[in-house]
Amino acid sequence: MPGTCVVGLQWGDEAKGKLVDILTERHEIVVRYAGGANAGHTVVSNGQTWKLSLIPSGILRDGVACVVTGGVVLDPAAVIKEIDGLESRGVTIAGKLLVSDRAHVVFPWHVAEDKLLDGSLAGGEPIGTTGRGIGPCYRDKVGRSLAIRLGDLYRPEFPAQLAHIAGLKAKLLGTEFDEAAIREEYRQYAERLRPFVCDTTAYLLDAVEAGRAVLFEGAQGALLDVDHGTYPFVTSSNSSGVGISSGSGVPGCWIERVIGVVKAYSTRVGGGPMPTEQDNATGQRIRDRGNEYGTVTRRPRRCGWFDAVAARYTARLSGVDELAVMLLDVLSGFETLEICSAYRIGGNVVTQFPSHADDVKRAEPVYETLPGWHEDLTGVRRFEDLPENARRYLARIGELLGRPVTVVSVGPDRAQTIFCDPAPKRHPWPRPQHPAPANA
Ligand code: GDP
Ligand code: IMO
Ligand code: MG
Repeated sequence: MPGTCVVGLQWGDEAKGKLVDILTERHEIVVRYAGGANAGHTVVSNGQTWKLSLIPSGILRDGVACVVTGGVVLDPAAVIKEIDGLESRGVTIAGKLLVSDRAHVVFPWHVAEDKLLDGSLAGGEPIGTTGRGIGPCYRDKVGRSLAIRLGDLYRPEFPAQLAHIAGLKAKLLGTEFDEAAIREEYRQYAERLRPFVCDTTAYLLDAVEAGRAVLFEGAQGALLDVDHGTYPFVTSSNSSGVGISSGSGVPGCWIERVIGVVKAYSTRVGGGPMPTEQDNATGQRIRDRGNEYGTVTRRPRRCGWFDAVAARYTARLSGVDELAVMLLDVLSGFETLEICSAYRIGGNVVTQFPSHADDVKRAEPVYETLPGWHEDLTGVRRFEDLPENARRYLARIGELLGRPVTVVSVGPDRAQTIFCDPAPKRHPWPRPQHPAPANA
C-alpha cells in the first residue's frame, strides 16, 4: 500500500523537512499538497544545509519524483529561484520535478494585499503573515473571478485575462500595476517552468493505483489549518492531514500511514494564542538552544512548553498513527520540564482543544512536572541510550497523545535520528482503534 504522510501537529517548523528527507529513501514520489512559499523546510546532511520552500524535501535524493500539487499556491519567481539555487549546488531537477497545472499563481497584487491587510484584523492583533501573498492568492482561488492557474499561462486567453484582472486589482487596491511588464515577466516564468507542468492529479492517481510508494509532505502545522486551527491566526490552506486529499486529489483510502511530527516543546511564529508560551528566560533559553528563528522570515519564534492538549487534538484530526518527536536535544539541562495536559478556562478544567481562538487565549495551562536530564543527547543513536528521564518524557507525550513515539530526533543532521524499537507498525485501512489517551 502506497501512501505515507508527514504532518506537523503544532504551529509549523516541527522539522518536517528533516523527516521527509530521511523517509524519502523508502519512497518513489514526494508530494507537497498545500501552502506555498510561506514554508521553509530545512535538511542537513553531510555538513551541508538545504532550505526548501516550494519544492518537496525529497528533491535531494536521486531517482525520486517530486510533485507540487494543485493545492499549492505557486509564486513562479520563488520556485525558479529555488530551482536555480539547487541546480547551482549540483542537485538534479530535470526529470524529477512535476508541477500541477491546477496550482494557483501568486501575482504582485497578492503580495501587496498581504502587506496591506495583515495589520488590520478586527481587534487590531495582526496575524503576522510571512508576506508571501498566500492568503490573497487562496482568497482569489476560492472567489474564482480574479484567479489564474498555472495552466492558464499557456493559453491564448492569458493576456486578456491578465489585463482584466490587473485592471480590477488596480481599482480595488487604489494603485497601478504595470500590466505589460507583468505579462512579459510571467510569460518568461511560464516558458522556464514548461517542462515541469502537467496534470499531477492524474499522475498521482496512476502512481497509487500502480502501488508506488508515495510520501506526502505537510507544510505548516495542523494548528495553522484554515478550518481547524486557531482561526483567524492561521494560514489559508488545510495544512493538517485533512488537506492531503483536497490538495493532491489522492483519496484517503490510499494513505496507509500518518506520522505526526512534534517538537519536544512548542514554538509559534506570528500572532495568535499559544497557551504554553514562555515569554521569559525559559522561552529565551529554548530559543537560544533550538536556534528558534524563522526559516523564511528570520523572525524570533515564540517558545514554550509542550502542549499535549493541542497536539492530541491535531493528532486525532490528522489521523496520526505514530509520532516523531524532534529537537529533544534542546531540552537538555533543565532541572524539570513541564507538559501541559489540560487547560483551565473560566473555572473549568478541559482536555478538549477549544474551537474559538479567544478561548485558547483565555486558557491557562495545567502542567505536569517531569524531571529533566543534563546529558547532551546529540550523539545518542539508540533509544535505550537516552537518559531515563528523557525516555520518561517521551513516554508521557506518547501516553497523552494516545500514539506511539517511533522516531526521536536529537540534532539537525540526518544521522541524528533514533528509530525506536519495535519498528513502526503498518496499519491496514481501516485502522484499528487507538488506545484511549491516558487523560481522556
Ligand atoms: P519544518 O518547516 O517543519 O521543516 O522545520 P524548519 O526547518 O523550519 O525548522 C526546524 C529547525 O530545526 C531547522 O533549523 C532544523 O535544521 C532543525 N532541527 C531539526 N531537527 C532537529 C533536532 O533534532 N535538534 C535540533 N537541535 N535541531 C533540529
Ligand atoms: P513550515 O512549512 C511556521 C504562519 C505565519 C503566520 C501565519 C499565516 O515551514 O512549517 P501566511 O503567510 O501563511 O498567511 O501566514 O502562518 N506560518 C508558518 N509558521 N512555519 C510555517 O511553515 C509557516 N507558514 C505560515 O508565521 O503566523
Ligand atoms: Mg519551517
